[in-house]
Amino acid sequence: MTLLQNLESRLSKALETVLGEPTQPNLMTAADLRFGDYQSNSAMVLAKRMKSNPRALAEQILNAVDIEGLATAKIDGPGFINFTILPEAYAAYAESLLKDPRLGTPELGKGKRIVVDFSAPNVAKPMHVGHIRSTIIGDSLCRIARFLGFEVIADNHIGDWGTQFGMILHGWKTRLDHEALDQDPIKELVRVYREVNASTKDDTSVLETCKIELVKLQAGDPENLAIWQQCIDVSKFGLQKIYDRLDVKFDHWLGESYYNDMLSGLVDEFLEKGLARESNGAVCIFSEDTKDPSQDPFKVHREDGWTDNPAIIRKADGGFLYATTDLATIQYRIDTWNADQIWYVVGVPQQLHFRQIFEAAQRWGKTGDFRHISFGSILGEDRKLMKTRSGDNVGLTDVLEEAVERAAAAIAEKNPELQGKEAEEIAEIVGIGAVKFAELSQNRLTDYVFAWDRMLALQGDTAPYLQYSSVRIRSIFRKFDGEFDASAVAIRLEKLEEIHLARLLARFGEVLPMVIEDHRPNLLANYLLELARAFHSFFEACPVLKSEEPLKSSRLALCKLTSTILEQGLGLLGIRCPERM
Ligand code: ARG
Repeated sequence: MTLLQNLESRLSKALETVLGEPTQPNLMTAADLRFGDYQSNSAMVLAKRMKSNPRALAEQILNAVDIEGLATAKIDGPGFINFTILPEAYAAYAESLLKDPRLGTPELGKGKRIVVDFSAPNVAKPMHVGHIRSTIIGDSLCRIARFLGFEVIADNHIGDWGTQFGMILHGWKTRLDHEALDQDPIKELVRVYREVNASTKDDTSVLETCKIELVKLQAGDPENLAIWQQCIDVSKFGLQKIYDRLDVKFDHWLGESYYNDMLSGLVDEFLEKGLARESNGAVCIFSEDTKDPSQDPFKVHREDGWTDNPAIIRKADGGFLYATTDLATIQYRIDTWNADQIWYVVGVPQQLHFRQIFEAAQRWGKTGDFRHISFGSILGEDRKLMKTRSGDNVGLTDVLEEAVERAAAAIAEKNPELQGKEAEEIAEIVGIGAVKFAELSQNRLTDYVFAWDRMLALQGDTAPYLQYSSVRIRSIFRKFDGEFDASAVAIRLEKLEEIHLARLLARFGEVLPMVIEDHRPNLLANYLLELARAFHSFFEACPVLKSEEPLKSSRLALCKLTSTILEQGLGLLGIRCPERM
């Protein structure tokens, strides 16, 4: 149980005593330590409802609440009740955390299954910045949800079917460089695709040829199907290398093509059940006209007012669309996987698409809790969309390569003793950690500027700063000779810096539920920065190895708990810590 939960249950008992009926209290972490550690506005909320005096009600609640040995409380302003946790309660809680593998984190997700749909790049197209964000955020959310006890199914819904294959098939047959394909399959497929795409601009007959190739593929032509399969295989192989490097794992790779056989039945069912109807030869899902058009994903505002904005699930030529596949995917996830929730980690531009298919799925009776976890763009240092010098979208591999190179240079400068394989490994951990942290420490909805120097700085809001903090704690234990068993230590908190460190350690289990509620890993990232800063202040103010027992053991135990939480927290962001750096 977290301290917040502990206090909450005491407050709720007090409210029941005062009001004569069970009442849910409002309690939150205080915004400012001047207001104590936790703050409740329950007296104000309830007094308003009962038309009574909030300070008088707060007084009654204070008299009824049993916080003996846990906290002190006082009334502030118009009727806030502010609680300050006692140092001995923080000490006792830190002792319990040292024995708790969950580090105080509640098991919120027990018995609940979530499918997380993330990364999902398109075959034969390079992973672009949007896929970078999706991959990093999605992976971190999977890790955090699992730690909270949810059963998570990570599914990579790759774009492995679609009109781009007309061009790829044509290119494969006429201009493929097999050696280049072996070396870097994704790069070669992208080259072929780009070249064909460019040549269609000068020669319309190429476009015709591509269309014919596509139609043959869709009709099941064995040669084209075999080439298509090979494209998928080599692409997956190339992608897997990137995922390995990023330490990102999927339970499934059910791409768009997996659902092909289900699409025509799905459209028939939608027609039969009246969920969709024909319009100019196409099959479309329309608004039910039951809500305000400004809230209706099947309406759009044009010059002459609100008009229909249907989702097409079958084109007039019989072709199926992205929406059709996504509906089939929802059916599979709900009916076969029994998912309670489905999370889609996909950029803001697809918002309308998801609002439409979520609503269509609900009408269809596929009930679940669907969430579009969207994010903004990554900008270059010129504040424009991030592009390479030649104007292309930046590929993920290049970003990782450069991050690791820069990290290697920074490490060589800082600690020239590190050499060879060890230095390389550290550069990999630090470089990739820096890219991930730069992403995860931002509010996902805002665009952010990708600035190399800022993300690799040792002093700053960066992964290297956190990794360096963990390395520093590890070095304390290297200097301490002998076994240190933190589970038997009695913690005593004397200085303010010690109390503050314990306060932050206690918050780990309170932050994670907030992270998952709103899908915001940046709350965890920022918490870890705060924890590291608190550690550095503690370390400056409180000698550890040079202090006498029992203080020495107590402080060592605080160091131990800090490093455990720091590393666990970074691990939940998908970031590793080196032994040295
Ligand atoms: N492949 C898509 C893209 O790159 C993303 C797929 C997201 N997932 C989904 N179920 N629609 O834009």
